[in-house]
Amino acid sequence: MTVADPTNYNNTASDTPSEIIPRHVAIIMDGNGRWAEARQQTRAEGHSAGVDNIRLVLKHLEIRGVEFATVFAFSTENWGRPPDEVSFLLNLLREALKKEVEDLHRSNVRILHMGRLDGLPPGFREEIAAAIDLTARNTGLTFVVAFNYGGRAEIVDAVRRLLSDGMSAQDLDEEMLSGYLGCPGVPDPDLVIRTGGEFRISNFLLWQSAYSEFYSTPAPWPDFDAEEIDRALKAYAGRQRRFGKIQTAS
Ligand code: IPE
Ligand code: IPE
Ligand code: MG
Repeated sequence: MTVADPTNYNNTASDTPSEIIPRHVAIIMDGNGRWAEARQQTRAEGHSAGVDNIRLVLKHLEIRGVEFATVFAFSTENWGRPPDEVSFLLNLLREALKKEVEDLHRSNVRILHMGRLDGLPPGFREEIAAAIDLTARNTGLTFVVAFNYGGRAEIVDAVRRLLSDGMSAQDLDEEMLSGYLGCPGVPDPDLVIRTGGEFRISNFLLWQSAYSEFYSTPAPWPDFDAEEIDRALKAYAGRQRRFGKIQTAS
């Protein structure tokens, strides 16, 4: 399989694998700390390398024809890390958003956010809202940043909102609850990728990943490159999604 240069937007359709491409890829970007430790670097350096990798991955996913990319950037449980790591991560992600937003906009990327905005500094909340606003009419890749996100918190917040909207037990079904979760209009992920070698979901997209294909790679997030993406897409193309039914011969 040819590996396209993710920094080159001139890659043609012939570079893309012919197998089925997932419409929505969601990624648990794990392993920054271990990547750094293996190089005698600080965890902060690992996080910086991780943030730098996001743009390359987005470009390559777009080249491959993926329409929605969600990245898990900071979980509701990550507040439990040492305060200096938490504040470094918050600042790093805030600066990255400021630095990249214009370029993402020029690349026709639409930015969305999932997670709790309360608990974030007010200035940061405004910057997130401005980035969403600026890119709202873009028609290219939809880039969903799961930031201060937890799957359980998301379900609790959705139920709170639907109760305060006056919904009753009779009104509730899966479609209605889905509409109160995360980002309306974003389809459930077809493929969930976890870097860093673990085989767990760590409170990511609990509802939405009910029938997602799961792929784990030992590569830590800063090393997750175009070749790694193609390997994940190839694995996905070989899966049989049955959604509880029985595969019928075609
Ligand atoms: C992922 O890398 C980044 C976040 C969770 C914010 P980690 O910081 O979890 O890296 P490891 O798992 O310790 O290697
Ligand atoms: C998941 O990674 C969260 C993000 C990638 C933002 P963690 O490193 O927090 O997950 P655990 O602690 O290994 O389950
Ligand atoms: Mg981790």
